[in-house]
Amino acid sequence: MKIDGTPFRSIWVDDTDRWSVRIIDQTKLPWSIDLARLTTMEGVAHAIKAMLVRGAPLIGASAAYGVALAMRADASDASLANAIAVLGATRPTAINLRWALARMQQALQPLSPAARTAAAYGEAAAICDEDVATNQAIGKHGLPLIAARAAGGRRVNVLTHCNAGWIATVDWGTALAPIYMAHDAGIDVHVWVEETRPRNQGASLTAWELGKHGVNHTVIADNAGGHMMQRGDVDLVIVGTDRVTRAGDVANKIGTYLKALAARDNGVPFWVALPSSTIDWTISDGLADIPIEERAASEVTTMTGRALDGSIATIRVVPKDSPAANPAFDVTPARLVSGLITERGLCDANEFALREMFRDIA
Ligand code: MRU
Repeated sequence: MKIDGTPFRSIWVDDTDRWSVRIIDQTKLPWSIDLARLTTMEGVAHAIKAMLVRGAPLIGASAAYGVALAMRADASDASLANAIAVLGATRPTAINLRWALARMQQALQPLSPAARTAAAYGEAAAICDEDVATNQAIGKHGLPLIAARAAGGRRVNVLTHCNAGWIATVDWGTALAPIYMAHDAGIDVHVWVEETRPRNQGASLTAWELGKHGVNHTVIADNAGGHMMQRGDVDLVIVGTDRVTRAGDVANKIGTYLKALAARDNGVPFWVALPSSTIDWTISDGLADIPIEERAASEVTTMTGRALDGSIATIRVVPKDSPAANPAFDVTPARLVSGLITERGLCDANEFALREMFRDIA
């Protein structure tokens, strides 16, 4: 995608500076576009934990480059094992992290230490390139869902939650890929962007992305989505996901489940876009088996934004003695999911359909 006319990916290697890894620091968006430089595996682990990079596919791609940086410093077996352990412990819910680390380990373990650094950069680059192609395919398969509702030049209203756009992946995004393609095809698409408290990925990141691409959008409070559906103002919901079980249960940003319930009550289709690297074939029951990240209470008790004087300020919005809880994801049962938009096509959210579509990897 482009930022002010310049093509960007969310992560890349700087071969002019000792093969360091460059990212867009997402904690600074939408106020400024800060490019951070990561030079160590520990730096990558911090960037994932502190959410300078976030979104399931980008977390996986970042971890892959974290392994490459570890190999550059020390390509021994012990260093490889340590990198996999440290990076694997950064965030618990997005399965793409474990998927990418397993792929790196499989590629590097059989090699001699002398061969590992180049191979690690190569494998990480392949993960990134494949992510871009995968998301383009997701966009292509999801586009007809929007196009079908655009008959006669009618505006199509899509509601999304959190950020599953190009900066949550390497490029294009998952849930936003069909929207970008619809917009580029001249379809009048408008997006209801839920703010996504507590970290405001919708208000800060999705709105920023859509705005940069010229896509019509309106930010709404998280609590407004159901009301919009009742009024007939939502044609379909498309969200991303951090982990899908083999039975089609979907973990996504906290608040997604409530939108799925409202969508079912109002007959609004509820679609989930994902690359196959987000499917966890080892588990079936999402509620029982997907680990839900519990983040700091301070994300709930405070809000960060730009003050009227232009400075970035964090303010407390909860009484000082009130405790807060912060589960970062929830699970939407497969029965509430209209279907999955994958790189291989549209798929029902159940084990039979998923196994049929992904026979070779299931
Ligand atoms: O906590 P985050 O910002 O890493 O969570 C990301 C999400 O939950 C997104 O909504 C997304 O759909 C998954 S990544 C494409």
